[in-house]
Amino acid sequence: MTLEDIFNRLWSDYTTLNPSVQNVYDLFTNEGETVLNDHIAFRTFDHDKVNIDVLSRVFLEKGYEAKGQYVFEEKHLFAKHFEHKTDKSAPRVFISQLKTKDFSRFLQETVEAVVDKVPEKDLNSDNLIFSGNIWGTPDYKSYLKLREESEYAAWVYVYGFRANHFTVSINGLKKYDTIEKVNQFLKDNEFLMNSSGGEIKGTKEELLQQSSIMANHINVEFTDGVYSIPGCYYEFAQRYPDKNGELYSGFIAKSADKIFESTNYYKK
Ligand code: NI
Repeated sequence: MTLEDIFNRLWSDYTTLNPSVQNVYDLFTNEGETVLNDHIAFRTFDHDKVNIDVLSRVFLEKGYEAKGQYVFEEKHLFAKHFEHKTDKSAPRVFISQLKTKDFSRFLQETVEAVVDKVPEKDLNSDNLIFSGNIWGTPDYKSYLKLREESEYAAWVYVYGFRANHFTVSINGLKKYDTIEKVNQFLKDNEFLMNSSGGEIKGTKEELLQQSSIMANHINVEFTDGVYSIPGCYYEFAQRYPDKNGELYSGFIAKSADKIFESTNYYKK
């Protein structure tokens, strides 16, 4: 499996599950734009069998290396980002994990139980990052209960391992070359922006500005019925050069903190 195969497979799953993200992609390409990925992101739990170290393995094997580390106190998350050592066109990979110990016994036991359901061979497989909800059909009651404590936990419980979002590199766009223009274009096409902390997260001075649309609702099968809940979202990032003229390549924790909320439940 080449790196290109990996991203194609993640993209295919992402757009199949969330038809609206394909619509966003098509909006830009129909305007003659080339859509490049700034980064893609995964979510997981800090459990030894599925944590960041486990999910990042396949990328390390393909020439990636660990770069920045980020702490999100309020959401009880820790994250790392990875970059390809030589291929500068390869998207950054951002992987976060939930500090389960900070949560209730119910949450911790639920995580233990779902991870325990997965055969060892699947956990050690390079296919883990594509496996989605590898622990089987979720139940709606547990989903709701998890959501009371952590929207993030509820999302991972339902969707498992897959791209949580792709991110359009605004630096790679021609006509929509600022984050303001991108956001306006999305709103003109009736996409709902994540406005937590403002539609634009970060400043030019911080060298990274980000925005995202709220995850579309999709129908998910639970053991006790089909419910419409937020799926995956699309993000947009514009990077600025530092004093040495090099584009900033890291992430800004307080911006990412708000971007995480793009999968929060909202009424349609
Ligand atoms: Ni992101």
